[in-house]
Parts: sequence; C-alpha cells; structure tokens
Amino acid sequence: MTPRTTPRPVRRLLGLAALLGLVLASCRDELPQSSLNPAGPQARTIDGLFTPVFWIAAGVFVVVEGAILFAALRYRSRNGRVRNPVQVHGNTRLEIVWTVIPAVILAIIAVPTVRTIFALAEPPDDPDTVNIEVIAHQWWWEFRYPELGIVTGNEMYMPVQRPVHLELHSAEVADSGADRSAIPVIHSFWIPRLGGKQDMVPGRVAAMTLEADEPGTYPGQCAEFCGLSHANMRFRAIAVSDADFDAWVQSMRDTAAGPPEEPAEGEPMTPEQEGEILFGKFTTGDFPAGFSCFACHAVDANLGEDTKPGQTTAVGPNLARFGERQTLGAGIFENTEENLRRWLDDPRAMKPGAIMPDYGLSEQQIDALVAYLMSLQ
Ligand code: CUA
Repeated sequence: MTPRTTPRPVRRLLGLAALLGLVLASCRDELPQSSLNPAGPQARTIDGLFTPVFWIAAGVFVVVEGAILFAALRYRSRNGRVRNPVQVHGNTRLEIVWTVIPAVILAIIAVPTVRTIFALAEPPDDPDTVNIEVIAHQWWWEFRYPELGIVTGNEMYMPVQRPVHLELHSAEVADSGADRSAIPVIHSFWIPRLGGKQDMVPGRVAAMTLEADEPGTYPGQCAEFCGLSHANMRFRAIAVSDADFDAWVQSMRDTAAGPPEEPAEGEPMTPEQEGEILFGKFTTGDFPAGFSCFACHAVDANLGEDTKPGQTTAVGPNLARFGERQTLGAGIFENTEENLRRWLDDPRAMKPGAIMPDYGLSEQQIDALVAYLMSLQ
C-alpha cells in the first residue's frame, strides 16, 4: 500500500488559507481582552513601554535572522565546492561585539521599564479614588468596597475616569461550614485592557491602580494556575458614570435583609416566595433539615461591622442583586434562567471542582430558586 500524500498544489493552497486566516484574524476590531487595545491610563502606560520594546525586538529579529539567512545562502554547499568556509569560532573581537551589543540594548530598555514599574506602583493621590479589596477564592472573586460598606462577587463596578485602588488578597483560611479543604494558592489579577497582571500571594497584600476612560465592560481573569477551574476563574470590571456608580452603591446598600415576604391571606405562594424560603432552609438528599444556601451565599451586600481588611469568611459569592448580573459561575456563563437551572442542577458539571455540590434539588425546587434569584434586582 502506498502512503497517501496531499498533492503539492493542495498543500500550497492550505498553507495560503492558513496564512490568510492568521492575517484576517487581526482585522477583528472588537478586542475585549487585548492588552494591545488599552482602555485606561495605566494600560496605556504599559502599552507605551511595550511598543518601543516591540520595535527594538523586531529590529534585532530582522538583523539576526537576516544574518542567518545570508550566511546560510552565501555559504551553502554547492556542487564542486570542496573547501569549508573560514571558521570564526574563538574570534575574540566577534565574541565581544555580540556580547556588548545585547547588553547595551538591554541597558537602554531597562531605563523606561524600571521607570514604568515605579510609576505604576505609585498609589493615587486623587481624593476621588475608590478603594476596593479584591479577595481571590478558588474559583471566584470577592470585591469589597470598605469605605462604601458593600461587597459583591465576580462583577466589579467602578466609576469611569476615577482611579480605583485595589488591594489584592488571596483567600487562605479554610472557611468554616463547608466541605472544603482550602489550600493557600497563588492567583493573579488581570484585566488586559485596564492594566497588567498582579500575583495574589497568600499572606501578602499586593496593590494596583486602574482607571477606565469610557463606560463599558472589561473582562478579566485569573492569570496564575490555581487548580482545576483556574481557567474558569473569570470576572468583569464594569465601568459606569459617577451617577450610575452612586446609584449602584445605593442599590447594593438597599439589599439589607428583611424577613421573607409572607403570601397574602388565602393566596398561594409565588415561586419567588417559595424560592426565598428554600434559599434560607431546605431539606434534600444527604443534607440535614435546615441546611441552607445562606450557609455559603449572602444576598445582603452590606459589609458587617466586624469585617477585617482582607479577611474573609465568605465561602461562595455574595448574590445581592443577582438578577442584574451579566454572568454566573465567575464570569463563565451568561446569566440566563436556562444556565442558572443547569448550575443548580449540577454546578460541578459546569465548573469542575466547584465547592458547591449537586444538592439533588427537584425540578420544582430549582424552578423556585431560579425565580427567587432572578427576582433579586
Ligand atoms: Cu485563580 Cu487561577
């Protein structure tokens, strides 16, 4: 049997198509997660360093590759040539030249690099700065606004054209009440269009300043391998006008818990009411009577009085105003009834390794919880 090979014209065509695809891919103008598409002063500062370094590197590439090509073609083996070209191994002058030139290039690049690192580390002195504590969990994000007294999960609201100073922590203490064995892990905070990456190391506090020029949604993600669902540890920064930000803060403060709404005399319970009761207390499968979603998730966004900076007891994301969220499962799924239903049915099927297990909820219980959670807005 002769091996089947692709005919040369077809191979050429395939190669051309691949090249064309690669080139055309750069035509996409919507670049939600490209650091080459900066959307704030810090990201522009980084881009301003990247661009000259890129062109210097491109120049080095052209010179080095050009020299290799030249040498390979000029001194290639030809018919009738018997003598080897002159060998330059051990040529001291050449060795010095190609050691000194890269050293000088690196020294030149080091100046703006170090300057940029220090500039980005400078905390903002703008009195309008919004301070946010970010706590990375396996695998979701807690965002606390200590001065505003509120907390949220996975979607970080920020006002446009105002510096946001982030204090970055990694959750490290085994949270009580859940079947988890929390291992301290390193995460990394990254919103490509707004700034660089910053590692979040357990036991250390890192900081970062960001600012968005325009209102919009800026996707971010964990950029350091932190376990099974590392790739599913995403989030969004949602930049809004000052007025919208204040309205959001107020709406979050208004989520202070009240008692479940009782159905009116003689009226049947609505699915929302059923869901609310279920959220606070349910009995199913292996879980004891009185076990509740509340054990891990709050629906009140107000920070407790005794909250300590960077220390968290949250097991799952705060779900205040969940119905308004764009995504669920830490930025990985669109927040639709359909997806929420799938999530409640079996969270680990959607997010491998999630702490939240399959509680064996019935169709009716899922319907009620979906109705309740979506009504939180
Ligand atoms: Cu957190 Cu990767």
